[in-house]
Amino acid sequence: MAERRALLRRLAVAALLIAAAAGPVALYDRLVARHLLERRQAPPVLSPQMIIDAFHQLSYYDSRTWLLNTWLGIPTRQNPNDVWITQEIISETKPDVVVETGTFHGGSAVLWAMVLGQVKPAGRVISIDIEDMVDEATLPPVAREKVTFLVGSSTAPEIVAEVRRRVGGKRVLVVLDSDHSMKHVLAELDAYAPLVQVGDYLIVQDTNLNGHPVHPGSGPGPMEAVDQFLQRDSRFESDRSRERLLFTMHPKGYLRRVRS
Ligand SMILES: C[S@@+](CC[C@H](N)C(=O)[O-])C[C@H]1O[C@@H](n2cnc3c(N)ncnc32)[C@H](O)[C@@H]1O
Repeated sequence: MAERRALLRRLAVAALLIAAAAGPVALYDRLVARHLLERRQAPPVLSPQMIIDAFHQLSYYDSRTWLLNTWLGIPTRQNPNDVWITQEIISETKPDVVVETGTFHGGSAVLWAMVLGQVKPAGRVISIDIEDMVDEATLPPVAREKVTFLVGSSTAPEIVAEVRRRVGGKRVLVVLDSDHSMKHVLAELDAYAPLVQVGDYLIVQDTNLNGHPVHPGSGPGPMEAVDQFLQRDSRFESDRSRERLLFTMHPKGYLRRVRS
């Protein structure tokens, strides 16, 4: 029996080593395999949530590979799973306007505009940042046709007033991706949540910070803002069905307005 277990362990380690040689996470696999070999242990049995969190940690934090993502060559700080889900939300709700806080280089604004253009030809994107970094993002024709880049803080009274003026009574999807401190996200929720109509969405991005599950100890951030906001505003609920692709950087962050 002991011999059989030892053989199984060797086979498991060999399988990990083969996977390590072939796969994109070779270094991580090799470290795990060496760890198991040194301790003569069989691979641990992990729960689905542990596997999801481990992948999240590996993808987001350890490899930081998502920082290399581009859309049409424009640096874009988005997780493809969440882009897919946002695309589904835009296609289902067909907002007139997507309001995004946190433009960065404009890749995400161009992306939302391309999706929106297919389901709502007259739709527009408003994207806000304290810095103007959008040179590349103004090149695709869709950006010139559909995107308004505003420079200023997303919570500055003049910016909020300008967004409200442009949105008017139209249907809106709000995407919060700027300063990820709890204080700022709460201020953004106060400013922009009232624009969202029943059945439509407000996405609080990067709720994974401060140990949910990455960057433990980074301090209260988007997740804590969502928790406070949902406690005090019963018009919104977190739509956890939007986390069906398992790995999301916005756990609990897909907020849907359910009451007027
Ligand atoms: C995570 S990046 C946005 C990424 C972008 N949405 C994308 O997908 O490529 C955060 C951005 O928020 C901007 N930012 C920080 N504080 C801000 C504020 N108070 N108002 C608006 N933007 C802010 C930063 O300059 C930075 O470009």
